[in-house]
Amino acid sequence: MNNSLLPVTSLDDLRIARAALDEPVGFVPTMGYLHAGHLSLVERARRECASVVVSIFVNPTQFAPTDDLDAYPRDLERDTRLLEEAGADLLWTPTPEVMYPPGFQTWVEVETLTRPLEGARRPGHFRGVTTVVTKLFNGVQPQRAYFGQKDAQQAAVIRRMVRDLNMPVEIVVCPIVRERDGLAMSSRNTYLDPDERQAATVLYRSLSAAKSAYEEGERNADTLRGIVAEIVNAEPLAKLQYVSCADYDTLEELKTVTGKTLLSMAVHIGTTRLIDNFVLE
Ligand code: PAF
Repeated sequence: MNNSLLPVTSLDDLRIARAALDEPVGFVPTMGYLHAGHLSLVERARRECASVVVSIFVNPTQFAPTDDLDAYPRDLERDTRLLEEAGADLLWTPTPEVMYPPGFQTWVEVETLTRPLEGARRPGHFRGVTTVVTKLFNGVQPQRAYFGQKDAQQAAVIRRMVRDLNMPVEIVVCPIVRERDGLAMSSRNTYLDPDERQAATVLYRSLSAAKSAYEEGERNADTLRGIVAEIVNAEPLAKLQYVSCADYDTLEELKTVTGKTLLSMAVHIGTTRLIDNFVLE
C-alpha cells in the first residue's frame, strides 16, 4: 500500500513519476468524487499490474455548454485518501490548461458508434471523451486501462478507438458495482432525494425483469424493450428516455437477440438522469 500519494499536475512531473514505475502499468481514468465502482477498477488494476496510475480530471469538453461544470462534485482530499487505501501508486490531476492549452484544435472522433444512445442525447460528449482519453493515454502510457461497464457505450467507443488507431493499450472493462438494492453506483446518485433514491431502483428492477424473460427463452428485442418500458412507466417519479436492445459491439438495434447483446437504458428521476445496462450473452 502506498501511504504518501501526492498528486502530480504538470506533464513534466507526470513523466518523471511515470518513468520510475514498474511495468506493466494499469491506468484508471476518472473525473473524481470516487465511489466503490471506481475503487473496484483500481483494485482490479492493482491485482493485474505492477503499478497503478489514476487520473482525476473533470473534462470540460464532454459536458454540454448548458451543464454547470462548477456544480460537478469534487473532493480531492477524500479521493486521494481512498486511492492511497486502494493501493494506487501515482495520481495525476491535470489542470484544464494542461489538457487544453490555448489554441487547442485537435480532436479524436469515433464516428458511427457514437451516434445512437448517449451520443444522440449528448451531442459532442464522446468527442470530448475520446479526445481526453487519448491525451490521458499519451501522458500515462499504460499497458492496460480500466473502464466500467456502467458507461457501456463509452467502453465500446474506447475499445473501437484503440483498435482503429493501433493504440498500444489493452482495454479492460469491469462489471458494474451496485448498491444492495441493485442501483448502479454513480456520482449522480448523490443528487437523489430519499423518494427519488427509492424510485431509482426501477432501472435495476426493469432490467432484471427483461433478463429473466431472456433467460426463459424470450429473444424478441421489442418484447424485451417493452418489459423494461412498462416497469419504468409504472414508476411515477421516473421518466424513460430510452431503452435499447442492441448488438454489444456495434450498438445497432436488434430485432432478434442472437449473440452478445447490450440491454441499456436512460431514465430521468426528477432532474437526475441515470443510465444502466445488462449484458445478455
Ligand atoms: O468515465 C469517466 O469518468 C470519463 O468519461 C473519463 C473516461 C474519465 C473521461 O473523462
